[in-house]
Amino acid sequence: MSKMIYILNGPNLNLLGKRQPEIYGSDTLEDVDKTCAALAQEAGFTTRFLQSNHEGQIVDWIHEARENGAGIIINPAAFTHYSIAILDALNTFDGPVIEVHISQVHKRESFRHTSYVSMRADAVMAGFGVHGYALALRHMVHILD
Ligand code: DQA
Repeated sequence: MSKMIYILNGPNLNLLGKRQPEIYGSDTLEDVDKTCAALAQEAGFTTRFLQSNHEGQIVDWIHEARENGAGIIINPAAFTHYSIAILDALNTFDGPVIEVHISQVHKRESFRHTSYVSMRADAVMAGFGVHGYALALRHMVHILD
């Protein structure tokens, strides 16, 4: 079985640490990548940690995960709320999918209360800050082991 966990990040998350730190905190995406890689390694897994501002690129990575990935952790960022293409791509993936949001989206604007990705996700994290990635990864390892 593949030991690779895909961790996919959508638009504007490249600015994590600089972007609205009062909402998203001061850790960078590189910090999150390092934390996840170390956690995965301890558990005998590897991560492929990726970010794009382009919807089609995320669809392509989900297709890649169909071949190489045991599971997908995804923070689709704004695409969460309207991307049928990402939902359709995730529906072609057989392994577990965990959706992560750094902020507590249900406490925010009403357009953030809708998630197309949640129609596929096996679990959803929201409001745990960047710690949500580590929690999602631990749960992913637990499911896959
Ligand atoms: C987010 C929440 C989304 O509503 C927003 O568009 C993001 C980040 C989060 O991690 O809290 O870009 O997915």
